[in-house]
Amino acid sequence: MGWVRSLTVIALTFGAASVEAFKEQEFKKCADSGFCERLRGKQGDSYSADPKSIQLNGAVVTAKVQHDASGAAYDLQLTNYNGILRMHIDEAASKHRFQVPWVLQSELPDSSQAWTKTRQSSSLLQLQSGSAQLTLTFKPLRVDLSIAGTPAASFNARQMFQYEYLREKQEGDPAGWWEETFKGHTDSKPKGPQAISLDLSFPGFQHVYGIPEHAASFALKPTTGEGIESEPYRLYNLDVFEYNLDSTFGLYGSIPLMLAHKAGLTTAAFWLNAAEMLVDVASDNSGTQTQWVAEAGVLDLFFLLGPDPATVLQQYGRISGTTAMPQMFSLGYHQCRWNYKDETDVLGVNAGFDQHDIPYDVIWLDIEYLDDKKYFTWDKNYFPTPIDMQDKLAVTGRKLVVIIDPHIKRKSDYYVFSEGESGSYFTKNKDGKDYEGWCWPGSSSWVDCLNPASRDWWAGLFSLSRFQGSTKNLYIWNDMNEPSVFNGPEVTMPKDNIHHGGVEHREMHNINGALFHAATWQGLEERGRDSYGSDGDRPFILTRSAFAGTQRLGALWTGDNKAEWPALKFSVPMCLSLSIAGLPFVGADIAGFFGNPDAELFTRWYQLGAFYPFFRGHAHLEAKRREPWLYDGTTTDRVREAIRMRYALLPYVYTLFRLAHTHNQPLMRPLWYEFPDEAETFSMDDQFLLGPSILVAPVTEAGASSREVYLPTSTRWYNFHSGTAMKPASTGGLLRSQESPKNSIKVDMDSIPIFLRGGSIVPRQERARRSSLQMQGDPFTLIVALNDSAAASGALYLDDGHSFAYKRGVYTERALTYADSVLSNAAAGIASTLLPSLDVSVPLPAGAKGLKSDAVVERIVVLGLPGGPAGWKATVQGSSQFLQAGPGPLRLKQGLPESGLIIRKPGLPIAAEWSIRLSKSS
Ligand SMILES: *[C@@H]1O[C@H](CO)[C@@H](O)[C@H](O)[C@H]1NC(C)=O
Repeated sequence: MGWVRSLTVIALTFGAASVEAFKEQEFKKCADSGFCERLRGKQGDSYSADPKSIQLNGAVVTAKVQHDASGAAYDLQLTNYNGILRMHIDEAASKHRFQVPWVLQSELPDSSQAWTKTRQSSSLLQLQSGSAQLTLTFKPLRVDLSIAGTPAASFNARQMFQYEYLREKQEGDPAGWWEETFKGHTDSKPKGPQAISLDLSFPGFQHVYGIPEHAASFALKPTTGEGIESEPYRLYNLDVFEYNLDSTFGLYGSIPLMLAHKAGLTTAAFWLNAAEMLVDVASDNSGTQTQWVAEAGVLDLFFLLGPDPATVLQQYGRISGTTAMPQMFSLGYHQCRWNYKDETDVLGVNAGFDQHDIPYDVIWLDIEYLDDKKYFTWDKNYFPTPIDMQDKLAVTGRKLVVIIDPHIKRKSDYYVFSEGESGSYFTKNKDGKDYEGWCWPGSSSWVDCLNPASRDWWAGLFSLSRFQGSTKNLYIWNDMNEPSVFNGPEVTMPKDNIHHGGVEHREMHNINGALFHAATWQGLEERGRDSYGSDGDRPFILTRSAFAGTQRLGALWTGDNKAEWPALKFSVPMCLSLSIAGLPFVGADIAGFFGNPDAELFTRWYQLGAFYPFFRGHAHLEAKRREPWLYDGTTTDRVREAIRMRYALLPYVYTLFRLAHTHNQPLMRPLWYEFPDEAETFSMDDQFLLGPSILVAPVTEAGASSREVYLPTSTRWYNFHSGTAMKPASTGGLLRSQESPKNSIKVDMDSIPIFLRGGSIVPRQERARRSSLQMQGDPFTLIVALNDSAAASGALYLDDGHSFAYKRGVYTERALTYADSVLSNAAAGIASTLLPSLDVSVPLPAGAKGLKSDAVVERIVVLGLPGGPAGWKATVQGSSQFLQAGPGPLRLKQGLPESGLIIRKPGLPIAAEWSIRLSKSS
């Protein structure tokens, strides 16, 4: 939650005048930052590489670079990592600049690949690797990349590269170099100006994406407009209360990864730098031009050469790691509010879900459960027996999540504070003393997670013996980790605060939240090994702040949104931007944090939220209670239906997470991810795909009776509720009018339009249960949706759902295929069917026996059989016995059309080889 409620506290403590400073419009714009003012739009400074200094050594090119006017010297290094090009520039003289730790994966250096020199002259060097070509022009310094002859990206084509060198302070230096003040906060800048600017052009690309987190459209709008539309995208992690929509404003997380896409080529750039960064976007007929300015750090730029979306994401995973395999429970529904009052309240809500037959997995406690806002404690008046409470939840298959934040109350009899103080684990102020600021507990200090010793100490606090009142059924929520500081500049920490190793907060601000998240992860990982044995327990930790690499730790939600229709709509581009930037475990608060949604908005938000990778209801302290049964009965029915739809899809969602874990593939995908040549989809963000097979078209307007849906033309689609086929693509789609490429789909309040892609097989578990735990071992339904060549494929991944045993091969991967009238189930990597373009399967560890499962297939639905679903026989190959088969509805629900061939109770094990032949009965 945000800082709004603290206004009264602050007004009382600091006087009313400082309340002014907390209004949103009081956050910085470009004109308020010295480095942005100096470098934004600045062009024409010449930097050059010395031709005599060029050395090519296998995968690495090095060169001496200088700023021609001042003679300032830099070292350039270009490294080829086979599909990834890394460009590193640092000052030659002063090596004191901060290089972001923790993000890069250790395997990266091993994948380097020697360049082939194709040309060298006094003015340029040309290198080739696979289909990638690099041209390094010496003066002015410039790098051009092309893939298979198509220009992909250029560095410094517009001569905006600037690298402010570290220097001694001198009389007459310009104002703002050594100090600047914003709204009464003075930033002493002991290192002076140290910003870096660069321009990247994407020739021929009209669309760029990514660089979250902003409440902005998915395809990034140019920043060349008027007024607020002229502000650059800001990457600076901030706690912005009730953030504005359609804005370039910096929010809680920052991932400096930008993708560029056009028909035939996808490429990306990632700047590993954790200082405040500003990005401008402009476009014209020649393509898209961008300028990036960072306040500090080094230039460490990675080009991901693609050439397609899946490969770009995989390349990014090689740099920054892939998504942690989540626990199954964390993919179910989460019920949160600020606050569930006491133990009776928690257990009452838990029982309410059972009374209303609504599945859910996790109940959450916000900050009011604490004694005096001291983390790792409980308010004994309201939570006298927390272990009992967690045990009672566990009996019903549910977990508890509690909030633990990085600000530590400064109170000498509070053990976390006294240990932090005596161990020197807190962030320091510019004078080297423990930094003190104001947050929920009042006067606080902040854990310095750049310090490995602080991280180890913090992790230890989560052990069951130290965290009184905790059980192994308890998981964690890290909020306020930007960090949010109520009385700090822009509600965060001063940039001249000092971290471990003398690093200024300015240099590492954007990774602060991720490092805190990582320390908490370490704590739960250690706790898991202590309490579950060597296979451990996968941590679940929700975070608000994020950086590149956060995907390795857990889930993120999009912060303090409003219970209003536009916020529902913007949740889609926000989640898409995060997903495409390598952070797929995302969702927005349902049905808006602030305010009171009416029944219609509440329903629509659950209907969309069931397809967010992270699915949580949450509400502000002052919002009315809104557990799903507190509206009218019809609303409860619709919300139950939406949540059950999610639970039925858990096998598919879990399989997608496996693909995120092994191949860094997002769950929420823009349409162009799967249909990269359909240009109509390039700026689309009001519909999306969940994995390759399910298209979701949320209803985000009040009173809607229809909505437009674009169905990619290169395949056929089925209505996911009824199973009815849209007409094959060759006839232009079912409802497509002559003029519009979109289909106008009628909607009612019962559901939102969802479509199943022809050619896919989706596994489901359709028995309604209390929680995901009770679904373990439940039988499967396979939905086989045939394409125009009467074929389909899909996959299923299964493991124990909670431990790390999968790392030693305790899992099974099934390839499900339908071709030539035969449906077969075979052991094969899920990438072989879900990701044929990459097709790099992960082999079982040597000697591993895989997962044993007794679960069976209880139903198979085949949609789109030539000639309709009537008159088919089904036999198991190798047996002469017919299975029960005949036309029926897609789902076990009254009143649906008989849209498919239903094979009833085949009873075949899900984790075994078999095949079923369909034939026409004559
Ligand atoms: C149909 O699906 C199969 C299996 O995924 C695929 O090999 C084939 O190319 C698809 N055919 C069409 C026309 O899309």
